[in-house]
Amino acid sequence: MGRIEALLSRMTLTEKLGQLTMSAADQAVTGPVVAPVIAQGLARDVRGGAVGSVLNLYGSERVRAMQRLAVEESRLGIPLFFGLDVIHGYRTLFPVPLAEVGAFDPELWEQTAREAAREAAREGVDMFFAPMLDVARDPRWGRTVEGPGEDPTVGRALAGAKVRGFQGTDLAAPDAVAAVAKHFCAYGPVQAGREYASVDISERTVLEVHMPSFAAAVEAGVAAVMPAFTDLAGIPMTAHRPLLCGWLRERLGFQGVIVSDYNAIGELMAHGVAADRIEAATLALQAGVDIDMVADAYRHGLPVALERGLVNETQVDAAVRRVLALKERLGLFDDPYRRCQGPGPEAADALARRRSLARRAAASSLVLLTHHGAVLPLRPGLRRLALIGPLADAGAEMRGSWVAAATEHGQISVLEGLRQALGADVIAHTPGVTLSGADTSGIESAVQSCETADVILLCLGEAGTMSGEAASRAGLDLPGCQRELALAVLERAAALDKPVVAILFSGRPLVVPWLFEAADAVIAAWFPGSEAGHGIADVLTGRASPGGRTPISWPRSVGQIPIFYAQRPGGRPFAPNNRYTSQYLDVPNDPQFQFGHGLSYGRCELGNLRVTPQRCHLHDTLEVSVEVRNTGPRAARETIFLFAHDRLASVARPVLELKAWEQIDLQAGGQSRVTLRLPARELSFPGADLQMLFEPGEVELLVGLQADRACMRSVVVNLTC
Ligand code: GLC
Repeated sequence: MGRIEALLSRMTLTEKLGQLTMSAADQAVTGPVVAPVIAQGLARDVRGGAVGSVLNLYGSERVRAMQRLAVEESRLGIPLFFGLDVIHGYRTLFPVPLAEVGAFDPELWEQTAREAAREAAREGVDMFFAPMLDVARDPRWGRTVEGPGEDPTVGRALAGAKVRGFQGTDLAAPDAVAAVAKHFCAYGPVQAGREYASVDISERTVLEVHMPSFAAAVEAGVAAVMPAFTDLAGIPMTAHRPLLCGWLRERLGFQGVIVSDYNAIGELMAHGVAADRIEAATLALQAGVDIDMVADAYRHGLPVALERGLVNETQVDAAVRRVLALKERLGLFDDPYRRCQGPGPEAADALARRRSLARRAAASSLVLLTHHGAVLPLRPGLRRLALIGPLADAGAEMRGSWVAAATEHGQISVLEGLRQALGADVIAHTPGVTLSGADTSGIESAVQSCETADVILLCLGEAGTMSGEAASRAGLDLPGCQRELALAVLERAAALDKPVVAILFSGRPLVVPWLFEAADAVIAAWFPGSEAGHGIADVLTGRASPGGRTPISWPRSVGQIPIFYAQRPGGRPFAPNNRYTSQYLDVPNDPQFQFGHGLSYGRCELGNLRVTPQRCHLHDTLEVSVEVRNTGPRAARETIFLFAHDRLASVARPVLELKAWEQIDLQAGGQSRVTLRLPARELSFPGADLQMLFEPGEVELLVGLQADRACMRSVVVNLTC
């Protein structure tokens, strides 16, 4: 009999339900339940075998002490595992996911995940509640910052890269951590972009848009999945038996652990589908949820549910087996302290390596949105730079949301990065206003600082806590009186004929058309992480070329939301000069910036598009090649996107669908041919019956630098069965 069966045969019901219970310590508060109260009883519960895993406790000594209670003082000595929200780094923060995704560099995504795992796994963390894979098309929703942006193909690539990076090739390795694909599924389309609101979308959209990234995570071997807080057309995901048991476990063959979100089982009562914790626990267990995070519904509800015959011990044992199997895969039975090594002898080298990667990731994620003239990169020998705005000297804000173990200290601000790059005497720093206050008294001195400047740099945007969980915004403008500051500076700069560069820090696109109009250049930095200042200085000085492309359509107006490029055409697609076509009276249909938009310091031209074979079958692979030339003055990294459009099908298809992308670095004047490979099966889609269909007929393949048909090259291929 194996270890797990032997253990199971000896476990009491309390001990079994303990393995299905994850309790919160209070080193981080990530939910509404009062964690400190739970934390006080934690040691007692661990000794009593009434808890099987812990979240929000980290640090090798703290974890070692808690683990010792389980291993040495509980009756069966079953080790705990420890989970934490390491979303974009542990102590060394990489750019927030929405930023990093914009680098369109899966190798980078995997590298930063690997480094985060190596750093956290020395300090007791066995599980990351990451990657967050929720496709988001409504930037009012704060969690847009945590995920892959608007596109499911990007979500699939992110899922694979992050699961491989976090878990490595052997989950028992001391520097591997269990990944949790979250939040399954369709959390992004919360009604009106309001956090935790209900979700009611078509099965087709769930299948085409919100499931692919989770299927990719399962295919990559993700250890666990976390259902979303939300309901899907009235069925809470935490109790969604058809999708958890039917699709995830049976259809995809997922054999890992399903861990609820924070108190989500208890919240089935608030959803109105459970009268009490007994019914809530019953619904969740029957749906296939193995671990109850924080709600204590399993511990207190399942004993009664068992007595009433609402659930049976076989269902409980199946869940316990999956939890124990995960602990075995993590190597915790062989060495419960394997991730409590603390900083090793190579800590200094490891830190230097991580910081260097964070710097490169920051530079690669910056999106040069506008660049009128040639103000960037800043010319050498700059005499005076006026650095203005509340986010110029704001190292802590550069962390964004989900900061894990990264304290406010040690984060490189824009001010620090520029002082090191240009020299402290070149920089004249004036905050002007606070991030969200109403005091405008500092604007005048900020405006004054333009007088003697060669270039003016505005650092504007949101606080890190204005995006992430529980951070929806109904308006997407600059907080506080930053707009007043910016307008005053822009006006004076125009009068002085001095260039203004603006950097926007945010967890979502901000609706500031007036800034894009008036500034000489605008960069979307999102939240670049621990090396923000250095990465930004590298791009501003030309040491690095801006490589980011926006992974989400950038709205011109909140009224356009949800706005995304992969729209179905409808029966009256927009046509100019025809009132009776799809449009607004007051705002253009197109976004401020299309998905994939981002300028470089080069100038990229595409030509000579070829595709083979012209006629293809399901098992063929299409090769689409295009000539890429950099006719600009400086080296650049370009991202070439491949889209598809099935003009005539049994189901109306989106006007564009991203299928692949490639990146290329080109020197000034350089040219090369880029080949994008696309398995023809990727052109299948859910037919009218929602079964995948490879439908004969013509499909247009389009290659471009962003989701804008006006600047694409296209070719038609024929699908044949
Ligand atoms: C939070 C989030 C989830 C996180 C969990 C544990 O409420 O929804 O993403 O992993 O609780 O902190």
